[in-house]
Amino acid sequence: MTMAFTRPRGTRDFLPEEMARRRYVEGVMREVFESFGYGEVQTPTFESLELITAKSGEDIRRHLYHFKDKAERDLALRPELTAPVMRLYINELKRSPKPVKVYYIGNCFRYEEPQSGRYREFWQAGVELIGPPHEEAEAEVVALAMATLERLGLEGFEVHIGHIGVLRRILEDGGVREEDQNPVMNAIDKGEEAALKGLLEKLQVPEESRSVLLTILELEGPSREVLGKARALLAGRTGVLEELERFERVLCALGFFGVEGYRVDLGIARGLDYYTGTVFEIYAPRLGAQKQICGGGSYSLTETLGGAPVPTCGFAFGFDRVLLALEAEGRKLGGDKGPKALVVPAGKDLLGEAIRVAASLRKSLPCEVDLMKRKLVKALGYADSRGIPLVVIIGEEELAKGCVLVRDMKTGAQRDVKVEDLGSIKVHE
Ligand code: HAM
Repeated sequence: MTMAFTRPRGTRDFLPEEMARRRYVEGVMREVFESFGYGEVQTPTFESLELITAKSGEDIRRHLYHFKDKAERDLALRPELTAPVMRLYINELKRSPKPVKVYYIGNCFRYEEPQSGRYREFWQAGVELIGPPHEEAEAEVVALAMATLERLGLEGFEVHIGHIGVLRRILEDGGVREEDQNPVMNAIDKGEEAALKGLLEKLQVPEESRSVLLTILELEGPSREVLGKARALLAGRTGVLEELERFERVLCALGFFGVEGYRVDLGIARGLDYYTGTVFEIYAPRLGAQKQICGGGSYSLTETLGGAPVPTCGFAFGFDRVLLALEAEGRKLGGDKGPKALVVPAGKDLLGEAIRVAASLRKSLPCEVDLMKRKLVKALGYADSRGIPLVVIIGEEELAKGCVLVRDMKTGAQRDVKVEDLGSIKVHE
């Protein structure tokens, strides 16, 4: 006996019904991204290991799928798309007029422990905005992420916006260099308090900076309230206050986009090393542990990849999680996509005729021919089980009159229809 194969752990098969829902959500996302002027790009599924690990962060590196090809090149399956898209920008688009606005929908790979909403192969749908140095650009990507979820009809989501520049500047003032800041950011992102305190100790961050940092991380709530507390806490720290002012200008620009209802959360550090300024995360609380459905912010990566510095910001939805969140709210995702008619030859030697009728009917209605050559009752049973609303029966007698018999599966009513009139039959749902 041969062995049955199973899917690799953490991967999924998608059946037609689920694919129809996925394609519908994809379609809405594309439409909204394009309505803001973003154009689609696609990059390879694997890239050089070096590209993928540049400023990616401890967590990403630990969960990487990497391998050597036959020529001993070190490659990795992409765990995200920002670094690949920045490579594409440097290779292909750096001389294009600014802003460069691109979006992508693609699979990503992380060797994580699978659980509900967390997979080893998952999809991201995201955008990158390259060029504009102003706060309005950072505000635009937040507004775009929210507009997309609103268009999809998702209700239960929370937007948390923070500013990593504020946190980095506190550390910098405390004498912590950029490369040492990254593990600190990682500990914050993971909510590992003991590890964070240990790191601050090890890096000999002065007590005062330490306590400012730990207090600021706790600030979360409506914008005005949090900013007031932050300003008071940071009084006299000019450099940090400048970062905070930059953040306030982003929040102000969000108002131009009509965005409200978000929470300011200075404890957001993100799991990737390339972030520099505004950062945000969107949660769908119904999803429990894996509730983060979107993450993004402004970042700096082009210099690390050998390009010129350029302002960049963007976000990525965890596509699968957005779908789970919509399903948890019972949203209907797209219409029914199956065939609307089954063309059945009633009698031997009529299959050829049925195929010809189906070919012309297909110009107006998605339909399928009964290729199984079963008896009419069996074919009707099949149409019923598939929910196909019409059955077109091809019989000798009807054909002699230039007709076919059309049966409405809901009512059971049957009527003769001239073959040339088939194009105008309608499905009553
Ligand atoms: P990220 O937060 O690492 O950011 O990933 C974005 C989203 O992908 C997460 O919010 C989550 O919904 C989803 N995700 C991550 N890992 C998994 C997994 N194992 N299974 C299912 N979904 C997952 C980035 O990747 C950045 N590149 C986002 C960005 C774009 N920043 C600027 N531009």
